[in-house]
Amino acid sequence: MDKCWLEKKVKGFDGFVIDQVDDITKQISREIKLLFDNCKENYSNGKRIIKFKIQNDTDLIKDGFKIINKNEIIEIIGKNTMGLLYGLYTLYRREILKNKYEEIISNPDQSIRMINHWDNMDGTIERGYAGESIFFKDNSFRRDFTLVEEYARLLASVGINALSINNVNVHKIETELITEKFLPELVILNQIFNRFGIKMFLSINFASPKRVGNLDTSDPLDENVIHFWKETIDRLYRYIPNFGGFVVKADSEGEPGPFTYNRSHVDGANMFGRLLEEHGGLCIWRCFVYNSTQDWRDRSTDRARAAYDHFMPYDGKFNNNVILQIKLGPLDFQVKEPVSPLFGALKKTNHIIEFQLTQEYTGQQKAIYYQVPVWKEALDFDTQHNGVGSFVKDMIKENSPVSEHSGICAVGVVGTDNNWTGHKLMQINLYAYGRLAWNNCLTTEEISKEWVKLTFNLTDDYSEILEEILNTSRETYQLYNAPNGVGFMCRPNHHYGPDIDGYEYDRWGTYHFADRDGVGVDRSKTGTGYVEQYSDEICDYYNSLETCPDDLLLWFHHVPYTHVLQNGKTLIQDIYDNHFEGVERVKKYIEQWKNFKEVVDHVDFENILDRLNEQYRLSIEWRDQINTYFYRKSGIKDENGRKIYL
Ligand code: GCU
Repeated sequence: MDKCWLEKKVKGFDGFVIDQVDDITKQISREIKLLFDNCKENYSNGKRIIKFKIQNDTDLIKDGFKIINKNEIIEIIGKNTMGLLYGLYTLYRREILKNKYEEIISNPDQSIRMINHWDNMDGTIERGYAGESIFFKDNSFRRDFTLVEEYARLLASVGINALSINNVNVHKIETELITEKFLPELVILNQIFNRFGIKMFLSINFASPKRVGNLDTSDPLDENVIHFWKETIDRLYRYIPNFGGFVVKADSEGEPGPFTYNRSHVDGANMFGRLLEEHGGLCIWRCFVYNSTQDWRDRSTDRARAAYDHFMPYDGKFNNNVILQIKLGPLDFQVKEPVSPLFGALKKTNHIIEFQLTQEYTGQQKAIYYQVPVWKEALDFDTQHNGVGSFVKDMIKENSPVSEHSGICAVGVVGTDNNWTGHKLMQINLYAYGRLAWNNCLTTEEISKEWVKLTFNLTDDYSEILEEILNTSRETYQLYNAPNGVGFMCRPNHHYGPDIDGYEYDRWGTYHFADRDGVGVDRSKTGTGYVEQYSDEICDYYNSLETCPDDLLLWFHHVPYTHVLQNGKTLIQDIYDNHFEGVERVKKYIEQWKNFKEVVDHVDFENILDRLNEQYRLSIEWRDQINTYFYRKSGIKDENGRKIYL
């Protein structure tokens, strides 16, 4: 398998010394052998030496580290041994990148830095585009855990510290993951993750008491149900004393939940919270709850409102070890969404923000779509809930009563494909996710520069071209996708390629309301009122046509095609221009990439070229369908007379 950003070897170190011995420091020794050329263990007489030290340093928080670089002696100081491991990976990176420094002090910005796998035990991955599951096959565990170990290294090397291994939609066999049957293999998996400081979680089925416990109810307040879960949880912890806990998708898209028994999310989540608490476990409860059997004729229900409407009333009512998991945007990982209004508004409940590494709506790893711009937009968004400067990245931890129980999670992206992510370039999202979750201040450009340098052997001019492709890729994809933040114009079910009315009369609450006069969803104060879920300042900002940003205009407003945007163009002209430009940009990426033939590995070159060609084909499809659709609706011609099919 591809070693991704851990491929190169550091030269020029003679030896290293670590005093303490535990699973993590044993791993450090192994890592040094893999990543450093000829660096001897317990050896301190050479010229360049690495010394590892645990110290109760006041500059450091849990997992943080210092690297002091003096007279060829490198000292890595950690608050705990995990800090030493993270310090080692940082040293490795610095050496490959040839960054100069005397002292680095690094503490994680977010406590929980998690990946949620949507892997099923038959080996498929829900919304997976990089081969099969690295954990499961044929309704069982894969017996060879080599890939899991390689993966755990990749995760730890960028600071990821938690992971759930199975799909949030928990099917029949996966419901049994909590039973005796699968525990021995879970123990093995956990041992691997443990060595890299990664906590393992399971997604569980809320209806397990009925489905595997032979009870006739799964009511969270029923004594027998509580007893079932207590036994289950106690058993899990007997096998895996440092087990992370549960991820729960309840009352969402057909998954069972407390609503069946007229109970609330608090009843459900706190039942798990209480039982997990005595073992130090966590219950991560998803807020992706909405009416998924809507009638398109009903204009009063707005899916975007749902998470806030369901969870805001319970702020402060959840146990201290319950964490709400909130998708970045209120709908579902569209190319452009505003940030969920729960951030900044929730003030007394632990929470984490959810990203999606796998590119469900964003090209399914056929398209280049580097996601840091999306994540930064969200993390740096000023909710203004506590005045100017109430950024999402800070609100997440400041408004979580136990700040260690807050952070970031992301839907996973890897599979058995030789390069892990299907599209070689999209390895960057896994790398970048970890780096950004650790250090929220890193920029889009800094992370892509690092990744390109660690991954390829390119001269500066080539690196710059590749970085430019990556850094502009989100904007490019957005240009030729659903216009101005309206969302959901993709093909139903698989979500690949355009189908403008594909969801227009469906039950999922994803409508754009295009007619002959205009398009967009009226979520203003006089529309569905969604905009009022934000702080007053943000509400006014989005509510006004004067200030609402062009690329979110159709998310918040229904406007005529002749409406003049802030960029001075009419909406219809903006749609045409963006869609023509998007395709031209992809065409240019292909021309640029062709020049990389001699400077990158042949397999990588072909992989990226193939996928770029497919991205180009599909971008044309998006352009033509969108332009024709809106031309047919509006009857307004392109000012520049470009080809729009009738
Ligand atoms: C999306 C996705 C589903 C997934 C769901 C979720 O709707 O299409 O496959 O199950 O999100 O986040 O639970």
